[in-house]
Amino acid sequence: MITRITLLASLATVARSSQPGAPAPVAAPMRDLEWGQINLLHTTDIHGWLGGHMQEPQYSADWGDYISFTSHMRQKADEKGVDLLVIDTGDRVEGNGLYDASNPKGNYTYDIFGSQSVDLLCTGNHELYQEATVDREHNTTVPKFKHSYIASNLDYIEPETGNQIPQAQRYVKFTTKKLGYSVVALGFIFDFDRNANNSVVTPVEETMKQEWFQAAIREKPDLFLVIGHVGLRMKEFEQIFKVIRDQNWYTPIAFLGGHAHVRDARKFDDNAFAIASGRYFETIGWMSIDGIKKKSASVPSTEATVTFRRRYIDNNLFGLHYHTGLNETTFPTEHGRNVTKMITAGRKALKLDDSFGCAPQDLWMSRAPYPHNSSIFSWLETQVLPTAITNEERKDVPRLAIVNTGAIRFDIFQGPFTKDSTYLISPFVSKFNYIADVPYAVASKVIEMLNSGGPVFNGALDTKYLSIPEQMAPSRFFEASLSTANEDEDALPIFVDGEASQKPLKTDDPELIGGYTTRDDLGDDGDDAVHSPIKFYAVPNCIQSKIAFPAPAPPGDGQTEPQPQDPEKVDLVFVDYVQPWVITALKFSGGDYGTDDVKVYTNSTLTDLIAGWVKENWKKDC
Ligand SMILES: *[C@@H]1O[C@H](CO)[C@@H](O)[C@H](O)[C@H]1NC(C)=O
Ligand SMILES: *[C@@H]1O[C@H](CO)[C@@H](O)[C@H](O)[C@H]1NC(C)=O
Ligand SMILES: *[C@@H]1O[C@H](CO)[C@@H](O)[C@H](O)[C@H]1NC(C)=O
Ligand SMILES: *[C@@H]1O[C@H](CO)[C@@H](O)[C@H](O)[C@H]1NC(C)=O
Ligand SMILES: *[C@@H]1O[C@H](CO)[C@@H](O)[C@H](O)[C@H]1NC(C)=O
Ligand SMILES: *[C@@H]1O[C@H](CO)[C@@H](O)[C@H](O)[C@H]1NC(C)=O
Ligand SMILES: *[C@@H]1O[C@H](CO)[C@@H](O)[C@H](O)[C@H]1NC(C)=O
Repeated sequence: MITRITLLASLATVARSSQPGAPAPVAAPMRDLEWGQINLLHTTDIHGWLGGHMQEPQYSADWGDYISFTSHMRQKADEKGVDLLVIDTGDRVEGNGLYDASNPKGNYTYDIFGSQSVDLLCTGNHELYQEATVDREHNTTVPKFKHSYIASNLDYIEPETGNQIPQAQRYVKFTTKKLGYSVVALGFIFDFDRNANNSVVTPVEETMKQEWFQAAIREKPDLFLVIGHVGLRMKEFEQIFKVIRDQNWYTPIAFLGGHAHVRDARKFDDNAFAIASGRYFETIGWMSIDGIKKKSASVPSTEATVTFRRRYIDNNLFGLHYHTGLNETTFPTEHGRNVTKMITAGRKALKLDDSFGCAPQDLWMSRAPYPHNSSIFSWLETQVLPTAITNEERKDVPRLAIVNTGAIRFDIFQGPFTKDSTYLISPFVSKFNYIADVPYAVASKVIEMLNSGGPVFNGALDTKYLSIPEQMAPSRFFEASLSTANEDEDALPIFVDGEASQKPLKTDDPELIGGYTTRDDLGDDGDDAVHSPIKFYAVPNCIQSKIAFPAPAPPGDGQTEPQPQDPEKVDLVFVDYVQPWVITALKFSGGDYGTDDVKVYTNSTLTDLIAGWVKENWKKDC
């Protein structure tokens, strides 16, 4: 299949974006969408970014624009006589001021998300960490999408009765509108076990033994559609694929996944493919399936293979206009404009654009190596934590402060550092705990254990859960990240979704904007816009600051450098999330501490501490 790439004579800046103040997209050479009989538009891991990206032109369209887009795409499908479904696979909450800054959280986002007409959706782990979020999902999003919401392996505990009931229907069977294909759709979450106690996640393998599942896979539809908050390279989709395939030798199976925050496509067999559509509303995934045979047709379906295609659409107006053949005037629908206005009103009410200061440079999570002065983790370690981690009563006690890299979710861009920025980089309500007066010889071993993992950490205590999602779930580039410890500046960078051995693509075209250069099981032509590649460096599980340590001793005989002095005892301070790992690491370092030894060091969250530091240190107006 030949992909047409439209080369633009001049890569000019085009089209105003929808949120006031959002940057206009930059034009790029484009690859077209290839339509099939059943076409899927997919979002995942939106994490509250319904307003789009205010500092990155390539992802600057908002949820209102997406509503206009899906409306035009549905119309196009009708004209072509094919089917189109709009799907979301969870983690809609946590990670953006629009969700996190309101009280209650999500006061604005549930209505904004709910304005889209979504054909199928499921739950992510972030909908399950807090009891209130589970309740809210049950009493707001599930009823709103009564016919679309699927919870194949998720139950809800009703607060009034204590009854355990399915969070939503276990599966849906439907007939597509235009072509009349029968579809059985399932909706899973991976085997997650840190959920709030008013929810129950049944492991996928157990779920598949249940009667309803066994009935569902014997329905004999024309297509199985498995949506899930599951990384494509995690074990769960593979398990589901095998069980469905054993029962249905030739039926096409389409999987839509997420959680790993990457663009990816995986081939299970000729008739079974999966895609994952990135994160933070940067990406609108597109999958089309062609050559589907009807079971009801007189010709029995045999091994005839179907064709799966995929495209990762950058979420910006240039691309959305391009794929619909519309322009600034003809693209926005009334409904889309209304939702854009709802977002603007929410952002305004929450004062998300209020500036706390001016970031003097970009600070990257994984586009810079660690340690490095462009690394957000080095910045935290050397600048923020040393001044921010304080407790009046313990202020003179030397301390080690540990933060897991997964506590940071996004980059900092040079320019205004707003209220929104604080939630983007650190949306969690993590506080700092400590264990007092730990012998330094014991405490100093903890960081190394957390970063090297090893057999003492397994199951729910696997140290991969401390890291960023891009590294946590196995994916093509995660494997590569593991083997490329950031030993030195010259370490080979790993590209987002690229392969370990891939050399930097030498783009002599300075006009290409940096972005995703995805490689997946279908090749390297998945991205709708042609980008120059962006580097990806692996990060450690945790970082550590030494604070209020004794001053180095002057050089002794035969020494030229001042000699660092280790304290005898330290306060071991850590983000509460890492507590189970810290206690385990202490045990194996010869320190017998338990939860009874843990006290609160500061009630400020990491978000508060960062915001406070920025106000104090980046005062300059941009
Ligand atoms: C919640 O949103 C509504 C508008 O949708 C607004 O009137 C109300 O003030 C908001 N409440 C809070 C606490 O933000
Ligand atoms: C839904 O759940 C939230 C969180 O527990 C709660 O605050 C809210 O009152 C509930 N709403 C309804 C309509 O039950
Ligand atoms: C969950 O735990 C909280 C406190 O830990 C308790 O108040 C609540 O009743 C529990 N809920 C259920 C459904 O067990
Ligand atoms: C948008 O397209 C319409 C219809 O093709 C055309 O009349 C109009 O001039 C275009 N507007 C812009 C700003 O290009
Ligand atoms: C858009 O908002 C206006 C004003 O609130 C309202 O009258 C109209 O019905 C809305 N249209 C759609 C399609 O939602
Ligand atoms: C970062 O490091 C480079 C070289 O190591 C140096 O030139 C530059 O001034 C540093 N920048 C900051 C902000 O410290
Ligand atoms: C944290 O908050 C609790 C409850 O408000 C309070 O009792 C405690 O003293 C606070 N701890 C610190 C270290 O500020």
